[in-house]
Amino acid sequence: MIDSISVPLQARRPAGFALAIALLFVCAPYAQADDVRAPVRHRSAIASAYPLASQAGQEILAAGGNAFDAAVAVSAALAVVEPSSSGLGGGGFYLLHRQSDGYETMLDAREKAPGAASRDMYLDKHGNVIDNASISGALAAGIPGEPAAFEYLARKYGKLPLKQSLQPAIRLAREGFALYARLQGGIRYKRQVLLRSADAAKAFLTADGNVPEVGTVIKQPDLANTLEAIANEGAKGFYAGRVAADLVAGVRADGGIWTLQDLAAYRVIERKPLIGEYHGARIVSASPPSSGGIAVLDSLNILSGFDLKKYDSATRKHLIIEAMRRAYRDRAIYLGDPDFIKMPLAQLSSQDYAAGQRSSIRTDKAMPSALLPGIESEPVGMQTTHFSVLDAAGNRVAATISVNLYFGTGYMPPKTGVLLNNTMDDFSTKPGSPNEFGLVGATANSIAPNKRSLSSMSPTFVETPKGMMIVGSPGGSYIISMVLLGTLNYLDGMNAADIVKYPHYHHQYLPDEVDYEKGALTDAEIKALQDMGHTLTLSGRQWGNMQVITWDYASGKVDAASDPRGEGVGLVY
Ligand code: GLY
Repeated sequence: MIDSISVPLQARRPAGFALAIALLFVCAPYAQADDVRAPVRHRSAIASAYPLASQAGQEILAAGGNAFDAAVAVSAALAVVEPSSSGLGGGGFYLLHRQSDGYETMLDAREKAPGAASRDMYLDKHGNVIDNASISGALAAGIPGEPAAFEYLARKYGKLPLKQSLQPAIRLAREGFALYARLQGGIRYKRQVLLRSADAAKAFLTADGNVPEVGTVIKQPDLANTLEAIANEGAKGFYAGRVAADLVAGVRADGGIWTLQDLAAYRVIERKPLIGEYHGARIVSASPPSSGGIAVLDSLNILSGFDLKKYDSATRKHLIIEAMRRAYRDRAIYLGDPDFIKMPLAQLSSQDYAAGQRSSIRTDKAMPSALLPGIESEPVGMQTTHFSVLDAAGNRVAATISVNLYFGTGYMPPKTGVLLNNTMDDFSTKPGSPNEFGLVGATANSIAPNKRSLSSMSPTFVETPKGMMIVGSPGGSYIISMVLLGTLNYLDGMNAADIVKYPHYHHQYLPDEVDYEKGALTDAEIKALQDMGHTLTLSGRQWGNMQVITWDYASGKVDAASDPRGEGVGLVY
């Protein structure tokens, strides 16, 4: 177990805060009405990117499972009904809170570089990046982590056998589901890539290679068989035996470098989540190899020195943008796989460090990123999914899982039904060379055998003495800024439905510009920010697919909301 992350923020909480948190754990499900404490029952909730996945989790909760069993069911169902975003061929992070003892942990089920991977594997003999090499074809695929997470969740934290929790997904894969517009759009976007893989084309295109109509029933019998192998044999059903042999044969036939040993050696790692404090709220978020937690906490630390309420809206947004700029810069320089590199996490998350960063922020003027020293380069992908679960006992899961870009590589090794990720593209293929999203990074995130690439996935819990929120989103580099804005909005009293639909703005250090969604900035704010020196770009698309659950301890009220930009649903029952 690797968990050497200690974050001094915990020690820096105000004295009363520890008590508040202790009370929270003991009394969370109880209302405090004078001296009478009546239990306030609360309902379970699931928010995910597609209704069939939320329903799969609901089915497992109704069968006596807990939030962790439901997380298995939701992840597996998403692998079937939202294959563009996550799946058995991918990985991710599961942030867990066990209510009985307040235990919190993060399951790191991130993909690993194969054993034969090397630092310059995507460079030509002149040292130039080979176009698409880390995105297309089986060479772009890391060793998946999601199937291992299923077994780990079920065995260590769940109540039900994997055989039961995987049933809804097996049924959806075997009997099929009706194609919906958002997935159809993804298939259209990736059609040429899917056509290069006979099994992927068979699963997602018509017999003549076209995009199916909305409503067409998509059946995935090979995926159902692979899920059944996991249901019957646990992780071994994927990482050994027939499925592993087919995966390795398919990968190598497509130019990849996986071995049976790579698969057999894959393990989920439990890591301590990062924990910080912001104006009395406790923030629990993903630790490296996610950069999300550290970037969210660093941003909040910087902002904690400002009384945001006292500023006009443009200045408030300017300060949040300046905090993002600094946090993304550090993300780019310092972060990577904790099993391979040493990271100054204590420094990056300390209030003293944040005070130093804050001192370079002017309330009336943007600071050009070029004036913040020191940078190389690193990439992060874009398509991913997030779901949130709260069960009636108070156990909770925030899970962000991915195959990286839409449909990952788009390659499906024959007979497996498994789409391979292209998460190798989240490594720095060459320091100094920005990825397609313009993110920059460093040698900390260079490729090495068995290393996990740096991620932006940021599953997060936000707790106050009054209630809590489970939050996360897909969106590549934008995930961190969306989770930051969601956190600030929750702490400002916004409800779950408004948090998920909030129009976002984003700054990631480089490129040195503020990207914003329609409606995120008023005309007056645009003018004020431009006058301060910010370069603003209206995004041509909407980002994210945030899934939020909130729980008010006093009333027991639970809300679940799914981002209206997507087709998901938040269920409370
Ligand atoms: N592949 C997206 C991320 O991990 O940030």
